[in-house]
Amino acid sequence: MSASGSTDIDFIDLRSDTYTKPSLAMRQAMFEAEVGDDMVGEDPTVNRLEAMCCELFGKPAAVFCCSGTQSNQAALWAQCRSGDEILIEQFGHLANYEAGAPAVLSGVSIQLISGDQGMLDVSHLEGRVRPREQHFPQTKVLCLENTTNIGGGRAYPLDQLQRVTDWGRDRGLRCHLDGARIFNACTARGYSPADVATLFDTVSVCFSKGLGCPMGSILVGDEETIAMARRARKIFGGALRQSGIVAAAAIYALDNHIDQLAEDHRNAYRLAERIDQVPGLRIHLADVETNIVFFQVDSTLGSAKEFAGRLREQGVRMYDIGPGRMRAVTHRDVTAEMIDRAADVIEKVARESC
Ligand SMILES: Cc1ncc(COP(=O)(O)O)c(C=O)c1O
Repeated sequence: MSASGSTDIDFIDLRSDTYTKPSLAMRQAMFEAEVGDDMVGEDPTVNRLEAMCCELFGKPAAVFCCSGTQSNQAALWAQCRSGDEILIEQFGHLANYEAGAPAVLSGVSIQLISGDQGMLDVSHLEGRVRPREQHFPQTKVLCLENTTNIGGGRAYPLDQLQRVTDWGRDRGLRCHLDGARIFNACTARGYSPADVATLFDTVSVCFSKGLGCPMGSILVGDEETIAMARRARKIFGGALRQSGIVAAAAIYALDNHIDQLAEDHRNAYRLAERIDQVPGLRIHLADVETNIVFFQVDSTLGSAKEFAGRLREQGVRMYDIGPGRMRAVTHRDVTAEMIDRAADVIEKVARESC
């Protein structure tokens, strides 16, 4: 049995930090959670989590949601009306991996913007706000992602976040942060959650990624916007009853799991240094600053899909993300020793693929 109480599976899973399993201590906290009916605001554990997040992010209101998709989409629903448009970097999760939800749920169109490793700066955004004229969708929300996921696993510098959100606000836009991995960004850059949240109208944060919870996200913002998001959560079917059981996991993670993220980042860099030594694989070490590592597979070794398949046969799982591009994600269920074993396998598979 592993520490999470599940049967050990004999592979090293670097597919995503979403594959983390709740630890026994987290399960114990869930078992002991005091609960009530959250839909009418009577779950004491959910209320405690929301209050903790208001404090942590320096915002007056918070709503506990089932998933990052739900909290992102509730934020859009709360801040847009049908026919509006959002601005987002081309690899943004909210636009690419949430099943077209902005269109389905809020009637919102998306303007994808090419940035730098998932991050936007003012130079990318100039000229992107539509004129207030009847032909055009109304540009309403500027969405950023921190850390970036598919874009490159990067954490924004605080001054860049300040510059970009100032740019948006000067043009009358609302600013939303998909902070699914905001604690990874804080760990990488040394700023606090409140330093970041103060720049945004709404921030969505996931507990089910590196923090190791089975589910759950939170959306923080001002009272009025969060009241609307709470309504969206109900419309989307996400208003739950005794959800204190899962909120207890989130509280446990906030109290106990944030410090571990630094270890995940060290493990990511440890893996990246080994990949850097392997002929046929290319990586930019300077870009590895969080728990997400991207590298390129030279075509002489076959396609990234084939490479991922061979790794899998040897007990290491990671995703091929686009032509020649691989992604490995470290997390609390992967130790430094497992990283070394995974690196040995990567080296062997690359050698045998030549
Ligand atoms: C950057 C980012 N935002 C949002 C989400 C959505 O989270 P969920 O899977 O809980 O809906 C993810 C999920 O991986 C993500 O990586």
